[in-house]
Amino acid sequence: MITVDGPAAAGKSTVARRLARRLGFRYLDTGAMYRAVTWKALECGADMDDPAALAGVAQSAHIELQPAEDGLRILCDGRDVTTEIRTAEVTENIYRLADEPAVRRVLIEHQRRFGRRYDLVAEGRDQGSEVFPRAEVKFYLDAALEERAARRLADLRSTGAAAPLEEVVRQVAERDARDRSRPVGALRKRDDMVFLDSTHMTVDEVVEAMVAEVARRRPAQGRD
Ligand code: C5P
Repeated sequence: MITVDGPAAAGKSTVARRLARRLGFRYLDTGAMYRAVTWKALECGADMDDPAALAGVAQSAHIELQPAEDGLRILCDGRDVTTEIRTAEVTENIYRLADEPAVRRVLIEHQRRFGRRYDLVAEGRDQGSEVFPRAEVKFYLDAALEERAARRLADLRSTGAAAPLEEVVRQVAERDARDRSRPVGALRKRDDMVFLDSTHMTVDEVVEAMVAEVARRRPAQGRD
């Protein structure tokens, strides 16, 4: 079990996916799970201010993460929502579910079940701190706010969307604040996490640094 935590747009998904492929592990994108239940809550018109309704949505959602050529295919109740869960509407509403302890309990149980079945690279905000505190290697991946906003903007442009850089900086900073101050499952760097600042690193460099760290701690897995 390997965990990768860190703030929005630090590059966690890209490096976690590549690290998993290198090690022959499964990749667990927990942000996609929070996105999928948020998508479902919006889709079924749930009362976004009612904790019991949101917990009900999480309990009834059947979320599947299927390995695909270019990452993961996300299914919610059998429907492919890989693209829909990345819309601004979903992103803006995630906190309503992610801040809800009853919703987190459901998704954490789902994540741990996954962890019992597979060797995982699990990526999110709380994976090394709350969900898998005894993981063998726990990474905390960060980058400067401006760099993370620039990466997010590049992602947006690649999908045909765009926004002024200052607006994206503001949005990323707002998500940081929410992720760090959430009453349960808050983003936190712990002393037992390996800290990587990717501000001036390429994806390859980050992945190589992670593989080297894993090799130091789990010699059998770190070899090519
Ligand atoms: O990683 P991604 O940006 O897709 O995550 C979407 C949102 O889901 C995050 O902003 C965070 O609020 C929430 N999240 C969470 N716990 C996790 C993963 C994501 O609360 N383990």
